[in-house]
Amino acid sequence: VEYPDLVVVGAGLFGLTVAQQAVEHLGVRVEIIDVRDHIGGNAYSYMDEETGAEIHKYGAHLFHTSNKRVWDYVNRFTSFTDYVHRVYATHDGEVYPLPINLGTINQFFHAHYTPAEAKALVESQAGELAGTDPKNLNDKGISLIGRPLYEAFIKNYTGKQWQTDPKDLPAGIINRLPVRFNYDNRYFRDTWEGLPTDGYTAWMERMIDDPRIHVTLRTDFFDESQPYNRKALAAAGVPVVYTGPVDRYFDYSLGELKWRTVDFREVRYDEGDHFGCPVMNFSDADVPYTRAIEFKNFNPERRASQNPDRTVVWEEYSRFAERGDEPYYPINTEADKALYARYEELAKAEPRTVFGGRLGTYKYYDMHNVIDTALTAYEEQVEPLLKK
Ligand code: FAD
Ligand code: NA
Repeated sequence: VEYPDLVVVGAGLFGLTVAQQAVEHLGVRVEIIDVRDHIGGNAYSYMDEETGAEIHKYGAHLFHTSNKRVWDYVNRFTSFTDYVHRVYATHDGEVYPLPINLGTINQFFHAHYTPAEAKALVESQAGELAGTDPKNLNDKGISLIGRPLYEAFIKNYTGKQWQTDPKDLPAGIINRLPVRFNYDNRYFRDTWEGLPTDGYTAWMERMIDDPRIHVTLRTDFFDESQPYNRKALAAAGVPVVYTGPVDRYFDYSLGELKWRTVDFREVRYDEGDHFGCPVMNFSDADVPYTRAIEFKNFNPERRASQNPDRTVVWEEYSRFAERGDEPYYPINTEADKALYARYEELAKAEPRTVFGGRLGTYKYYDMHNVIDTALTAYEEQVEPLLKK
């Protein structure tokens, strides 16, 4: 093969941003490979024909940012709807607004507290463990918001997320539990939020709509029977941007970084609207899933093209990832962080290869973080490599 100027491993938002920048700034030819059968990485979505819902294949994705550089950049490729993210929770036969706010508190205590009264109540309940040093996540939760609210809304949800009793989880998993002493249940506090008007995949296709960018799907960087494999590219001196798992790149030589994954169970209902909202959390232990996503409700502006009689819901079941599962959330224990730091040293020393994205740097990144770090990595690492 005639090699391109740059090979990007992974067609997620990190890889797409770097490829777009390389073509725009230097006019080089870029090959993007991905082992999956579609571009977009975890932000990929597809249209469900039966319901007209846009299904986010790897879990619900909401775009939000306060970063002007990122907002200006993404708006070159898509406009955004005026969707504002809100989440509700089912607990003990009632539906409450989240994050915990004055509406949640007054509904829970059947009260009409003012902001100051609610604050005083939560502080006094949190005082139950005053003066002690919380040894586990359960005690930490109680010390942050008091036992009643913690046990109703946090304890079992967190237990399901980690498949572990919060008494056996380290206190350090949570540093704060936001409680709002007003009725604001807007989930994100960022300057901008919304969903891409024509969907995630159309947005990401436009990022790489250039004859100098070529995409090869169903292609694994480590498969030596395909031309864009690690060994062949190293031998030919082709620069690589790698957004796969960093431990995999080094053959797990120092050990495996740990992740949580999510299994999705699809349920279809003979109703136009099942929950009346896009995200319903289930706070109690008797429901085995953490939350359910009703995708139609992310795009109310598309009602006219959605099926009024059918809806599709994905229930989410969280568990520890085994090798071969989709890695979603880094576990990030102290041991994991120390292990990543050692892989990071190896990655820095790897010639003509730039590591990036959530898998390449073992970080939980929102989309805006990934785009921001990709723009910076392009400037600071990739462009110098291409000019050499
Ligand atoms: P990815 O999207 O993971 O892309 C990496 C790509 O590399 C993948 O397509 C993979 O197939 C490919 N690859 C890996 N190894 C190889 C190999 N050996 N050969 C070839 N290709 C390879 N962000 C938000 O801003 N808002 C949200 O609401 C939100 N919700 C999320 C919900 C879930 C369940 C998850 C998991 C993430 C969520 N995110 C959200 C984060 C968002 O998905 C990421 O920030 C973003 O998709 C990461 O982009 P990336 O390019 O770093 O990685
Ligand atoms: Na490097």
